[in-house]
Amino acid sequence: MTSVDRRPLGVFDSGVGGLTVLRSLRARLPDESIVYLGDTARVPYGTKSAGVVTRYAQLNAAFLTSLDVKLLVVACNTASAVALPALRATLSVPVVGVIEPGARAAAARTRTGVVGVLGTPGTIRSGAYQRALAAERSGLTVHARACPLFVPLAEEGWLTGDVPRLIARSYLEPLLGHGMDTVVLGCTHYPLLRGVLQEVLGADVALVDSGDATAEAVSQVLAAGKAGTAGPGGRTERFYVTDIPDRFVDVSARFLGTPVSDAQQVDLAVG
Ligand code: DGL
Repeated sequence: MTSVDRRPLGVFDSGVGGLTVLRSLRARLPDESIVYLGDTARVPYGTKSAGVVTRYAQLNAAFLTSLDVKLLVVACNTASAVALPALRATLSVPVVGVIEPGARAAAARTRTGVVGVLGTPGTIRSGAYQRALAAERSGLTVHARACPLFVPLAEEGWLTGDVPRLIARSYLEPLLGHGMDTVVLGCTHYPLLRGVLQEVLGADVALVDSGDATAEAVSQVLAAGKAGTAGPGGRTERFYVTDIPDRFVDVSARFLGTPVSDAQQVDLAVG
């Protein structure tokens, strides 16, 4: 039996993309309160160096832990890929990233043993998914591909039609024909492009959403008693951003399923 702990889960991302992870958390853990931070002043992380992203991740984590969260979810693939060891070394709350859960789900799902990983340049360059997949199951063949244009496409709402289809084809065609039956959507934005990705990859290829796998991992951490569970009633959500909230609020519904009506701006550099 786990203890009751009504403190919120802290969730951060470089911006709006982590709302896809929040959406999965809402569905999997409907009683848990959440504080979300989108580092919209510094987005994108996916094209920045590991050192810079780690510094931003530490600032985000310090802000959320100052709000007394009971567990930290690094909802950004790029930050999870490069900053988890540094965060785990300094924080006293459990830290859950999106890479290990996504890799675990893909390793369990593949029958052919050939897995694709799509992510930002920083995520793919880090080799974090490749390492996590090898740790989950030996003998897997991994084809990893950076797809940087998918992020602006998702944010601009270009989810269907010729433009995303042509871009997806140009990224994914080199991966086809190798027996790949499972592909990890290793970036917060890619679940929005699921339709076009499925069309280009083929109906038989399973698409693994790291956000769903992460919500499952958070649920297991709570069930294991590493932090208490909230129990029914009194759930809250709060949203913080590091630039003015307008764009975050405007595009939030596409990522979260429901619009964020209120987000508060914070200055992490001086705060
Ligand atoms: N949230 C980032 C990720 O999942 C994508 C956007 C960015 O580049 O910051 O890697």
